[in-house]
Amino acid sequence: MSGQPIVPFGKQFREKYFKELGKDITPVNHGSYGQSPSVILDKYFEQSKRQYHYPDEFFVHKIYDDYKNASKLVGDFLKCDWHNVVFVENATTAVNIILRSYPFSKGDKIVIPTTVYGACGNTIKFLEQRYGIVPILVQLKYPLEDEEIIEKFDKVFKQESPKLCLFDTVISMPGLRFPFEKLVELCRKYDVLSLIDGAHSIGLLPDLDLGTLKPDFYTSNLHKWLYVPTGCAVLYVDPKHWHKIHTMPVSHSYLDDSVTLDEEEEKTRLIDRFSFYGTKTYSSINVIGDAIQFRKDICGGEQAINDYCYSLAKNAGQLLAKKWGTSILDNSKGSLSSAMVTIEVPVEKFGISIKFIQQDFGAFINLVYNKMFNEYKTYIPISVHNGKLYARISAQIYNELSDYEYASSSLTEVLEGLSDNKECQTLLAAFSKL
Ligand SMILES: Cc1ncc(COP(=O)(O)O)c(C=O)c1O
Repeated sequence: MSGQPIVPFGKQFREKYFKELGKDITPVNHGSYGQSPSVILDKYFEQSKRQYHYPDEFFVHKIYDDYKNASKLVGDFLKCDWHNVVFVENATTAVNIILRSYPFSKGDKIVIPTTVYGACGNTIKFLEQRYGIVPILVQLKYPLEDEEIIEKFDKVFKQESPKLCLFDTVISMPGLRFPFEKLVELCRKYDVLSLIDGAHSIGLLPDLDLGTLKPDFYTSNLHKWLYVPTGCAVLYVDPKHWHKIHTMPVSHSYLDDSVTLDEEEEKTRLIDRFSFYGTKTYSSINVIGDAIQFRKDICGGEQAINDYCYSLAKNAGQLLAKKWGTSILDNSKGSLSSAMVTIEVPVEKFGISIKFIQQDFGAFINLVYNKMFNEYKTYIPISVHNGKLYARISAQIYNELSDYEYASSSLTEVLEGLSDNKECQTLLAAFSKL
């Protein structure tokens, strides 16, 4: 049953619990960096002070037990054995750890969708150049039904017999939910290792159950949707791979793949390797429990958060689509949307061709974002996909519909103004000569 927040979500909640958010800004992009409630930030700073109070005792005697407690909390959240759960700085690091420590051989194939997150795609490129790994790309052009996506992967798995497949829970840009549960099953069927980039998952997707899903590897940022302060992601590794996965940097805790441990030591093999691999802050890890408690006590629980954010995202998406005369990017089941929704931006209406935007997307978004930051103090990430420009909005418990009204009007004004913009004129002129 869904609980109730202590004060209504929206502006009132923002004023009371997200005091750090500038009064003059309109945040509609929670998905990129997340946001922590003020009380959790206070706890985070308390944790930092706790370390500085007696650093020797903190590092020698405290971090290990605290770390195990955090693993237990997140293990409960993910419905899996806590011994499989460790923490790293972010999802990019987690994906790097798996890809750069798994003992691939030259010629091993790794399957990725064309929508792969840029940083993770680059890690695959690195493996290709350094070790002769062969990337196999699955072309995804949305809108797509989940079944169509699975068929594409099925075909590639059959043809290529890859070693590993890397895929998201929710794609970054455009911000679309991915059928990761079905793809894990497919990986199992074809004996392909599954590496789930769940950068957007804990706190966003309900009912995560890794105990049942049983991927080989999974990561989720906790600093995006769980309200944990920046620099905290979970890395889940199935026990059968523990001995092959090493910390980054390799550190005091290193054990060669071939080292065997007695039964008791083997239970904490992963946690013992990852709980200390160099001096760093543990403040984010140490407030995971506070963030989970805040969600229960102050927000009314996971379902209350989820209901509010999903419904607001949908309403906001419809608002923008109506305003722009376009639509939300979704499929027949509506399974692509979450608390992040992607809406088509009618660029042609603003006298800008999609070809021009694609020609130098970096220059184009610089123009748009600079104006949004400087003149409107809001930000909607945009991307080109399948020949269209899309805007991604995120909904959070501190948002309400008026935020999206303002942010979309700002983007509209910026795009309308581009035809009078000198820099844009220069770009357009250069483009027309091509
Ligand atoms: C799908 C996906 N993977 C990885 C990341 C990287 O997250 P981080 O910068 O915290 O490593 C993101 C960030 O938005 C993402 O959307």
